[in-house]
Amino acid sequence: MSKMYLNRSLAVGALSAGLAFVVGCERPPVDTEQKGYRGTGMEEVTNPRIKEAEADLHIAPDPADPVSDEGPRAGEVYQNVEVLTDLSVPEFLRLMQSMTDWVAPDVGCTYCHDGNDFASDDLYTYDVSRQMIEMNQYVNANWETHMDDTGVTCYTCHRGENLPEESWFAEAEAGEEVLAMGLGNRMMQNKPTDKVSWSSLPRNGFDRFLLGHDDLRVEGDTILPNLDEWDVSIQDTEASYGLMMHMSDATGSNCTTCHNTGRLGQWDESPEEREISWHGIRMTRDLNVNWIEPLEADHPEARLGPTGDIAKVNCATCHYGEQLPLEGTKMVQDYPGLIGEPDEDFDFLQFGDLGTDGLRDRNSE
Ligand code: HEC
Ligand code: HEC
Ligand code: HEC
Ligand code: HEC
Repeated sequence: MSKMYLNRSLAVGALSAGLAFVVGCERPPVDTEQKGYRGTGMEEVTNPRIKEAEADLHIAPDPADPVSDEGPRAGEVYQNVEVLTDLSVPEFLRLMQSMTDWVAPDVGCTYCHDGNDFASDDLYTYDVSRQMIEMNQYVNANWETHMDDTGVTCYTCHRGENLPEESWFAEAEAGEEVLAMGLGNRMMQNKPTDKVSWSSLPRNGFDRFLLGHDDLRVEGDTILPNLDEWDVSIQDTEASYGLMMHMSDATGSNCTTCHNTGRLGQWDESPEEREISWHGIRMTRDLNVNWIEPLEADHPEARLGPTGDIAKVNCATCHYGEQLPLEGTKMVQDYPGLIGEPDEDFDFLQFGDLGTDGLRDRNSE
């Protein structure tokens, strides 16, 4: 290879590496909105071109035309209705049609039903959907600390797809063969994925924080570390930053949407969005542990991830990159079948305690 050719290929290599780098960045100009007090530098940066390109994804479909609430209830008329028993027959069928549009527009009713016997529950999609209807009723009735009365319908997560495009599987540990090849145990790091917005932070934050109840508090409250009391490792800190990258990306936010970055841990100067997100973390745990995971055992293998687990929910499953899913459209208000009765024993503290800092003070104000 001639020297000149070598130089040229090096130059081309450097140029394409440079381009790859630049393509990963966003072109200015961007929009900036001040979120905090003047001087705190709490500004939210958004890219209007990205927003415009994704606009369709965020428009909620129109509700189906209203129907009569009179006449016998679905539970009296049909053979195998267990959850939507109190709906009138027209309202029941209206919801069936909308569920089809939201989850299985390609296949239609037979995605969940045996076309010869609508009362049959042979298809696994039927069982999953029954659980999903109950999950909707539950989450809309109990998690207003996160969702106010906006709530969710099947469309919020599914957006016309059989499986929500945004979901996650557990990460596999580095296998024996990787260690044997001398590649070392990467401790779940240094392999960028969209789980951590392509940073090299640990990839197992969802397993720890959105399924598990690991503590996200990583900031000490003394100037020098008091090692007797504070046993947070660098790994813990990095994992929590990984989740923060996801939360930012999934909700189209910057760190400053939720934090005064001068002191990330304190609550008094954190915008309201942070407290809403605190509940969002607990709600996501609740959905994954109590509603999605129980479906795993009866699930077809083709739907399971690399470690044999079911696809689960993260912030993006509802938000799809927007601060308000579907621009805040209160779709569920048009579907009484998807709003349940509040659970008397409901207590968000069962999904992670308050810790010792200001959120408690803030709540008791
Ligand atoms: C995404 C899954 C899904 C789709 C698509 C779907 N259904 Fe259903 N359907 C269900 C579930 C789950 C039940 C049971 C509800 C319950 O237990 O409250 C049910 C129950 C029924 C029943 C009661 C049958 C009986 O006798 O027990 C009828 C009738 C019905 N659906 C009609 C339809 C029609 C018509 C369509 C298409 C327009 C449709 N469904 C599309 C999931 C679905
Ligand atoms: C909070 C988000 C969320 C909402 C709301 C939601 N789903 Fe799902 N749904 C999921 C996730 C995550 C999965 C993937 C789990 C799995 O493999 O079954 C899923 C899977 C399914 C599947 C299995 C599809 C397949 O091909 O394997 C069906 C059917 C389904 N949902 C129906 C519904 C219906 C009907 C509603 C509304 C009553 C609904 N979902 C509401 C998150 C949601
Ligand atoms: C959508 C809101 C939101 C965004 C965006 C966000 N955070 Fe957070 N952050 C939170 C919440 C909520 C907690 C508390 C979690 C808990 O206690 O369970 C938290 C906790 C933290 C903590 C731990 C504080 C302590 O008490 O030890 C750090 C550090 C942190 N975030 C950094 C960041 C960084 C850096 C970014 C940007 C990459 C970011 N956050 C983006 C909501 C957010
Ligand atoms: C089951 C669906 C769902 C999941 C999962 C979810 N959210 Fe939300 N979130 C909503 C809905 C719906 C709203 C709108 C509430 C309203 O209209 O006031 C919302 C509102 C918010 C807001 C307030 C935005 C504003 O401008 O007022 C923030 C911040 C937020 N979510 C962050 C998160 C974070 C972070 C996670 C993951 C830890 C998360 N959400 C998970 C459904 C969800």
